[in-house]
Amino acid sequence: MSDSLRFDGKVVVVTGAGAGLGRAYALLFASRGAKVVVNDLGGGRHGDGSSTKAADAVVAEITSAGGEAAPNYDSVLDGQKIIETAIINFGRIDILINNAGILRDKSFVKMTDQDWDLIHDVHVKGSMVTTRAAWPHFRKQRYGKVIFTASNSGLYGNFGQANYSAAKMALVGLSNTLAIEGNSANIKTNVIVPTAGSRLTEDILPPEFFNELRPEFIAPVVMWLCHEDCNETGTIIETALGWAGKCHLIRGNGTVLRKSLKDAVTPENVRNNWDAVLNMEEAKRCESIAEATGELMNVVDILGSSKSDAGGEQSGVIKYSMKNQYNFKQAILYALSIGAKCRDPMDFRYIYEHHSDFSVVPCYYMIFGPATLMETDIVERAFEGRSVNFAGIVHGEQYMKVLQKIPTEAVVETKCKILDVLDKGRNAVLLIEHESFNAETGDKLTTGRIAAIAKGAGGFGGPKRSHHEIPGVETPKRTPDTSYSEQTSPDQAALYRLSSGDFNPLHVDPNIAEMGGFKQPILHGLCSLGFATRHVLKTFAGGDPELFESIRARFSNPVVPGQTLRTDMWRDGNRIHFQCFVDNNTPVISNAYIDLKEVRIGKKAKL
Ligand code: NAI
Repeated sequence: MSDSLRFDGKVVVVTGAGAGLGRAYALLFASRGAKVVVNDLGGGRHGDGSSTKAADAVVAEITSAGGEAAPNYDSVLDGQKIIETAIINFGRIDILINNAGILRDKSFVKMTDQDWDLIHDVHVKGSMVTTRAAWPHFRKQRYGKVIFTASNSGLYGNFGQANYSAAKMALVGLSNTLAIEGNSANIKTNVIVPTAGSRLTEDILPPEFFNELRPEFIAPVVMWLCHEDCNETGTIIETALGWAGKCHLIRGNGTVLRKSLKDAVTPENVRNNWDAVLNMEEAKRCESIAEATGELMNVVDILGSSKSDAGGEQSGVIKYSMKNQYNFKQAILYALSIGAKCRDPMDFRYIYEHHSDFSVVPCYYMIFGPATLMETDIVERAFEGRSVNFAGIVHGEQYMKVLQKIPTEAVVETKCKILDVLDKGRNAVLLIEHESFNAETGDKLTTGRIAAIAKGAGGFGGPKRSHHEIPGVETPKRTPDTSYSEQTSPDQAALYRLSSGDFNPLHVDPNIAEMGGFKQPILHGLCSLGFATRHVLKTFAGGDPELFESIRARFSNPVVPGQTLRTDMWRDGNRIHFQCFVDNNTPVISNAYIDLKEVRIGKKAKL
């Protein structure tokens, strides 16, 4: 990552750039090499009148400082013309900052249709039509950044601003959906919630506060969100005074309001459970509508199995959670069990607690999912009433994302839940989410997903597909950029059982392995994945575990302890695709990648 954030060759459109925040954005972008379209209608604060002066003055400021800018005087309701100004003058558009805004504050009892419509037109429709005009350009060039400007009066409500706060929250919904629709074309959309001293706020904010709230403190936050190195999308950032923080909605754990699927929900059930409905102690964010809806499927599961005790007493959604405590001893044992070696300087930080960078191998947290499954009856519950050979259940796919720095010691609470049971013909596939929290601080450290295959348990007439399935990836077709080989030990699975707590006898007992349909005990899939994680970090992260962001893998064939693992790797930006093979060239891990925060390749690497 270069030190100075530049925008050379990029074209930025800033609406409402004749004053206040928009002007600060335009000046900063121009000073960093961008060509800027300075749009401003030049009207009054309440949406009256128009003038070319505001836009012209900012263009003059930019050009006299040696920058490049073109004015546009249209209303954002004519967004097409604003985008055309960028295309005609500069031949492209890369970044759109929807910033233009006005106020028509009235208490709700006095608000007219005109007050409502004007505010919605400028803020919502104006942002929408301008973004819609830019969208085809973004899609064609597979690059685009959009900022929508919301307000804390929308997020939190504010007396006299019913029209304005409703319009500002509409922009949050617009950004959320465009972040999803733009994803495949590399279009990122985010919301900024600024507080700044400007014409809009001069009689709202106390004077001493007003002077401190400089738009110049907001502009760098917007600039970073619009830089090509920033991958943020679908995010709301509130910022003022040189402070910035993310905002998002959270949902409480809630409670079921009836005893079984056959029961009705009565108003009395709602009243009796109201405290649990409102309880936010375990509130969490749903990352997608699929996750939010998927959570509700748990309710069907609970009601279907009649394990709810709602209807009088308060009850919560049944959780499968387990606490694990670890310190340097468990962390070192884990590192050794996935092949870390004292003589390898890139592994040594995982093995010696007094190393100045002593760290936990980031894939350590993958063990907590299976460990929780082994310690609870979650798998049995998922297959309740069906005959399943539990010895034949194997790990099919794994995904995990690290959300916070992994501590070197912690009490970790891991919560698992069944997302779906799929009928894949001969086999069944169980989709399970596992999330690990620092039990002391409550911080969510990792989120993960497992697809477990129950051999011979299919054919029960269940769904074949689910939106919870771990999204697949194609491995590049070209020859690998590099490979790393390492032999596992014949006792690797025995060691890994100790470090991971996954005591499934399939990995050590020949009789159980045979019952599960294997010729001999097989290595845990996560153990092989731990080897591969080290290989990728050594090759593309300079051995720095803090660069690890997320991992996804499919276990395609078993590894027998003692075999040599070869990890083939392909770099695609910050994504490292990889595949692992054993001695006879059989693929054992496929369709896999590790996303890094940054790629760091050592000088000696032959890449
Ligand atoms: P400002 O009044 O200083 O600047 C807004 C600019 O937008 C003006 O130059 C105005 O001429 C222009 N404009 C208005 N209607 C337009 C239209 N239809 N087409 C083109 N240009 C138009 O206001 P400020 O404070 O810089 O606000 C910028 C944005 O930030 C607005 O969307 C506002 O709602 C939002 N905001 C500002 C906050 C603050 O504390 N200043 C707080 C929360 C949100």
